[in-house]
Amino acid sequence: MARFSAFFVSFLSLLPFAIAQSQEWGQCGGMGWTGPTTCVSGTSCVFMNDFYSQGAASTGTTTVTTTATTTATGSGSTSTAMLNTIAKANANKLYFGSATDNSELSDTAYVAILKNNAEFGQITPANSMKWDATEPSNGVFSFTNGDQIASFAKANGQLLRGHNLAWYQQLPSWVNSVPTAQVGSVLTTHVTTVVKHYAGQVYAWDVVNGMSIYNPHDGSWRSFVFFNALGQNYVSMALTAARAADPAAKLYINDYNIETAGAKATAMLNLVKALQAAKVPIDGIGMESHLIVGEVPAASAFISNFEQFTALGIEVAVTELDIRMTLPATPALLAQQKTDYQNVVAACKAVAKCVGVTIWDYTDKYSWVPSTFSGQGEACPWDANLVRKPAYDGIAAGFTN
Ligand code: G3I
Repeated sequence: MARFSAFFVSFLSLLPFAIAQSQEWGQCGGMGWTGPTTCVSGTSCVFMNDFYSQGAASTGTTTVTTTATTTATGSGSTSTAMLNTIAKANANKLYFGSATDNSELSDTAYVAILKNNAEFGQITPANSMKWDATEPSNGVFSFTNGDQIASFAKANGQLLRGHNLAWYQQLPSWVNSVPTAQVGSVLTTHVTTVVKHYAGQVYAWDVVNGMSIYNPHDGSWRSFVFFNALGQNYVSMALTAARAADPAAKLYINDYNIETAGAKATAMLNLVKALQAAKVPIDGIGMESHLIVGEVPAASAFISNFEQFTALGIEVAVTELDIRMTLPATPALLAQQKTDYQNVVAACKAVAKCVGVTIWDYTDKYSWVPSTFSGQGEACPWDANLVRKPAYDGIAAGFTN
């Protein structure tokens, strides 16, 4: 191995001399390209896209001009901290974590960072434990992809967050056709079977997930199959079944637009109180935290809201943090994003029963944001080339300052 590395390094050191100019059809430009940008005589460097320019027949030698529509936003980080390490050592949190997805685990450069438990002490599967993945047909369960993430977490000494059991999205269509009288048993069977399968492996479950409970702004209940058939009882049914299936797992309701005070946060507080009064198990509230650069309030706004929940004797967690911007990224936006990340993380640090922070994937390469919000992106602390952005230092500062 050492011999191979030495050979590889000495081979690399020869490259600039061996390939001074790109050959015809060879790469000569593009984002991240560090090779030659001039081409052999008779060809010129032709722009194909932001990531690739190539030598093509022409006359004379030409230097490439790459028109980039996105910026290489990494390398603004100077922090030497490792985020899970400082989350635990400096902020007394259980973990700093990331979401991930099965298709990403074949990307070796991505995995090399994800599996480092000094950086990430916790993993959440972004899709593979959801209903459409685990029970695609009535009574037919599939755990292959969920198991892959669970094994990954175990192999790397990382906590696993189960995500999720009852959500109105990513429900297979058969669920909507279940006769009303059977919806309760379908829900209970699903929760029981999935939670039992992962019993002993999951630190906490997002039992009921975002928007299942309340519409985003007004705190009213969302109309969908479980609510329509069971009313608000579907929440207590799901929580009760989850507790019976794995008494050790923390049971969460996870939602968005509840990170700071407002109608929805108040409605959620009232729901927790009602569940507790009815002796329904509830251990925590997940604050999704899909936020927008420049619109993130000071840490104090999160702290006072988080404390309303922890005052009820439950924990909170920041479960899906990302902070998106309107593209293209600029140094000013990246600096603001750093401040925004710092504020959220500092808030979790300040609240003893905020147990940890999870980012909704660590890299812009795999963020859900650009495909959902047109013209927006750059929401993660690592750029699409897996290079740390200033936001990384914001997180580190949030845990340490
Ligand atoms: O698996 C199919 C694949 O077979 C198909 O070829 C492809 C074509 O579009 O779609 C694939 O499914 C996609 C799935 O992600 C897996 O990649 C869905 O279209 C896509 O809608 C789905 O998006 C997920 C989204 O939840 C669904 O609402 C995102 O990856 C996931 O990050 C996102 O996560 C949610 C949390 O669960 C709850 N909170 C909000 C958060 C962001 O929306």
